Amino acid sequence: MTDEGPIREAASMIGGAKKIVAFTGAGVSEESGIPTFRDPGGLWDRFDPNELGGGDIFSNLFAGAGTPSGSLEFMSEILSVLKEATPNPGHQALADLESMGFSISVITQNIDNLHREGGNSRVIEVHGNIFRLVCLNCGEKQMLAREELFRLGDELVGFLEAGDFESLIKLASRCGCGGICRPDVVGFGEPVQDMPQAIEEAKTCDLLLILGTSGAVYPAAYLPGHAKKAGAKIIEINATQCCFQEMADIRIIAKTGDALPLIVERVRELRRGIQQ
Ligand code: APR
Repeated sequence: MTDEGPIREAASMIGGAKKIVAFTGAGVSEESGIPTFRDPGGLWDRFDPNELGGGDIFSNLFAGAGTPSGSLEFMSEILSVLKEATPNPGHQALADLESMGFSISVITQNIDNLHREGGNSRVIEVHGNIFRLVCLNCGEKQMLAREELFRLGDELVGFLEAGDFESLIKLASRCGCGGICRPDVVGFGEPVQDMPQAIEEAKTCDLLLILGTSGAVYPAAYLPGHAKKAGAKIIEINATQCCFQEMADIRIIAKTGDALPLIVERVRELRRGIQQ
């Protein structure tokens, strides 16, 4: 169970914060059933990131250059876990801080849309959002409803299975300009999204929460350094190890779905205490 001391310390730090930024990774969505990347049994433990983690998987697919081995299993797994995924208590706790009136923005490396669905309104998705498509021809972006994405995804996997690339291209050509659309997510080697906005948030917060990330991927992993340099306090919550040891003022080894609700409950108690 989570040690009471750091939980109380974290709550008091949050209670006094003027501007909070939560920097999140796959660990925050793990309790929603979405596998992380680098944990044992994670996605990059079972699939090759060099084959499947780059953006060229889409360009190759649409160029009829076929797909790397494992593509079908990879896409099918991503689709099936997303279909079941809903915000977990960790997402909910971050949304609770916003509804309690705290100034909080979430900078996430996750593409699963769960922070928005969980209720946070200021979400910066530096690795994109799988529910958003982008046209390869005109750059137009369109947000898809969950069911629409899953319908498209199932059809795409079906055409991939049948090797029916013609129908696949037809399915993907859904922009008004007639162009082909792909998921608006960032693969290795592709430019990240909204990074200047993310850096500005990190530089102007007085409390950074680092939640469920190994800090293995740049430039996203530079963000805690920006906050530290600007004088922010840092709290890290990670289920297995602290990945920002030298920066964190408070380090909690716990699942975010366990620790964050406890911390937010303590913040409520502190506030009640002050109001009495
Ligand atoms: N609660 C808190 N932390 C958790 C939990 C949990 N329930 N489950 C796992 N973790 C921790 C793991 O200990 C690990 O340190 O979350 C971290 C997940 O690390 P990664 O799998 O590397 O995921 P992430 O840091 O988000 O990866 C960054 O790499 O492949 C790219 O684009 C991909 O956005 C991703 C980026």
